Order: sequence, then C-alpha cells, then structure tokens
Amino acid sequence: MSDDARFFAFLKNRIGLDVASVGAAIIERAVRQRCTLSKSADHDAYWQLLLGSPDEQQALIEAVIVPETWFFRYPESFVTLGKLATARLAQLNGVRPLRILSLPCSTGEEPYSIAMALFDAGLQPQQFKVEAVDISPLSLQRARNGVYGKNSFRGADLGFRERHFSQVTEGYRVEDRVRERVGFQAGNLLDPTLPVAQSAYDFVFCRNLLIYFDVETQKRGFEALKRMTRDDGVLFIGPAEGSLLGRMGMASIGIAQSFAFRHRAEQPLEPLSVVMTAPTPRPLPAEPLPGARPMPSPGLRPRSSVRPFAPLPPATRAALPPSPAAGEAATLLESIKRLANEGNSVEAKAACEKYLKHHEPVASVFYWQGLLAEVGGDVAAAQGFYRKALYLQPQHPEALAQLAALLAAQGDSAGARRLQERPARVNKEGRNR
Ligand SMILES: C[S@@+](CC[C@H](N)C(=O)[O-])C[C@H]1O[C@@H](n2cnc3c(N)ncnc32)[C@H](O)[C@@H]1O
Repeated sequence: MSDDARFFAFLKNRIGLDVASVGAAIIERAVRQRCTLSKSADHDAYWQLLLGSPDEQQALIEAVIVPETWFFRYPESFVTLGKLATARLAQLNGVRPLRILSLPCSTGEEPYSIAMALFDAGLQPQQFKVEAVDISPLSLQRARNGVYGKNSFRGADLGFRERHFSQVTEGYRVEDRVRERVGFQAGNLLDPTLPVAQSAYDFVFCRNLLIYFDVETQKRGFEALKRMTRDDGVLFIGPAEGSLLGRMGMASIGIAQSFAFRHRAEQPLEPLSVVMTAPTPRPLPAEPLPGARPMPSPGLRPRSSVRPFAPLPPATRAALPPSPAAGEAATLLESIKRLANEGNSVEAKAACEKYLKHHEPVASVFYWQGLLAEVGGDVAAAQGFYRKALYLQPQHPEALAQLAALLAAQGDSAGARRLQERPARVNKEGRNR
C-alpha cells in the first residue's frame, strides 16, 4: 500500500469517502495540511499520530468533508414536503407530531429550511420536530449558532429570509421559533449504533452525501436510510442519487424536481431495470478497458457542438494568448451551475448549449448536461454526457461517480467497479465545477 493509499482507506472506512469521488488531490492536500499543522516529521509520523488520536482523526475528517449547502436547495422538494406533511398530519389526527430527519445537515441550512417550509405550510410548532445529524462537529457548531452570510442564500426567491430571520451584524440570524424545532447531534450515517438509526421517521432528507461513496458504501447507506424511513414515510435525496434506490425496493413518488422516494409495496429482486422515473435505458456502449478513455458517442453529441471533443494538448493551450471570451465562458459556467442547482432545468440546458456553441467544450458542461438529462429521466442521454465529460477529463470526480452509479443501477457492477477503480491520478485541472 502506498503512502497515500492508507489515508484513502482510513477515510473510506471511517466516513465512506471514496477517493474517486473527490479526487486524490483533495485528500492528499488535506493530509499535507494536517501533517504540517500537527508538526509531524513526515507522512509515517503523521500516520502513527492519526492512529492513536481520535482528535486528529476528527481533524482529518474536517479537512476533507464538503460542507457545501444553502437554504431551500432544490426548492420544489420543500413545497412537496409542505403538502405531504399537511396530508400526513390529517391522517395522524393529533396522535403524535411529525418526525423528520436531516442527515447530513452540514451547517444547518437544510433542517432549518425544513422547519421554515413547514411553518410556511401552516403547521404549528408542536406538530413537528426535526432531528439533524452530521459527522462534523465544527459544522454543527455553526448550525447551532444559526447566523448565516450571503453564501447561504442563493435562490431567486428570498422571501423566507424576511419571514424567518432577523438581521445582525454578522449576517442573518434564524428566529427562535425555527431554531427550537431543530435538534442537532453528531453522527455517522454508516454507524449502526447511531441513535437516530434506532427509530423511523415520517420524512428523511439525505442529500448530497451518497455521491461521495462508492457503490458498495452507497448500498449500506441506502439500507440504513430505508430502515430510518417509515413504511408510509418519504425519503428525499439529491438529484444525482436516485439510480440505486430503484433496485433497493424504493420508488419515486413521481413529483418532478422533488427527488422523493417511498417504499415499494413489493420488494423486487435485483437487478431491476427501473431507475427512478426514467424510461428503460438504452443498452450501454462497450465498456472501455480500465484506464482507457471512453470514446464519445457520436449519436449523443449535442447538435450545437460542432467541434471535436478532444481538448487541446496542454502545451498548445499554454501557448495561446488569453481568450477575450474567457470571462464570458466563466460567467456562463457559473450560471449553468446556479441554474441547475436551483432546479431550473430548461434554462440550465439552454446555457449548456450556448456554452458549447460559443466556447471550447469542457468536462463540467457535459457533466451538467448529464445531470440535467438524468434529472429529466433520460438515463441513456445522461450516460452519453458523462462519457463525454470523462473523455475530456478522465478523472472528473462527479462524472465518474454519476456514471458508476448509473451502471450499477443497471446491473453492470463490473463496469461500475472499473470506473470506481480508475487510477486516482492527480487531476491537473482540479475540480471543474
Ligand atoms: C454537501 S453536504 C450536504 C448538506 C445538505 N444535505 C445539502 O444537501 O445541502 C455533505 C455533508 O455530509 C457530511 N458527511 C460526510 N460523511 C458523512 C457521514 N459518513 N455521515 C454523516 N455525515 C457525513 C459532511 O460533514 C457534510 O456536511
């Protein structure tokens, strides 16, 4: 095992993090930082320190986690929650309050959004309670503090800020009525002794965690989530995370942009061809040999793209003067990301096409096209886009994770494994989102 492989294995074992999902460079940088901050002489000394120190283990975990989140991320899911919660309360007829879980909750934006959405849907405080869990005590500290800067407010509709926050010197503070409905605790989704894992919830939110796991760990995560979701409950996941659920006895509730699933009455045997609400996928093109670059599928080439997909060799790129269009390209990339994250698929797709028409193709645009196609239920097109992203950037972490999850959901576990095992070369372009 190489120097770095033991750190990769440690993180996978402790928190499920798959090196292919974030890229080796991110983990290597975190190890270097912790090595310096802990004044360890070298990686061997740091490894020994890590093994013997729970505090250092937590510090390394804090250094690699991705706490990215904001209020009302995927807004339609909160509208859906409000409607489902109202209907569920009517069924319960005052017997007990609704129980809701947000795992991972990161710095609190998701569980507070749940509470705000329920108040906005007309629920009274005593009618629900949100439990919020994350592996990062630092993030939980910020969540309990409840004060947020502008990065946490990214959607187009910020009316909720007027209704549920007060302005303070450092930003905006969540009002007490909302804070009191949310309880925070530290925990690991993969820990079977996790206190919240001993109960079942009416609504479970687990978004943007499983994308960082390999297929096997995703399965463990989904098993835990299934147990925590009542038989008549609903599980909300991230837009990129639905592929496996179809095979695990859960089915989409069929509300667009909500990414919400419930238990299927009969548990189907694996492998199941139904993936989310998507049509039956087309057969996959032949899987490339390990390490080989997948060829783009000409049939799936976006009509607007008239250029070859191969990027310019680095030397050629370095020799070119800075393009006057570079600023416009960067702005367009930002708006693709924003529109996609806001669930504005039509405009996000149009922005991708505009990008490919006017600029040299980049992996991240194909990745977003893949995600948008997947969200829209077109799994075959999504695969084509992910393959194009990987053709341009073979280590693009999100495209690798997405394509692997799609292949696994179609029963192609060998293909999925090959992608997961793709050598974690340092990606010189870094994360391209
Ligand atoms: C990208 S955030 C997602 C936050 C929120 N659910 C959302 O979608 O906006 C991912 C979070 O997962 C947490 N995390 C990573 N591994 C975890 C694990 N094994 N168990 C619980 N939380 C974990 C990280 O600390 C981080 O806060």
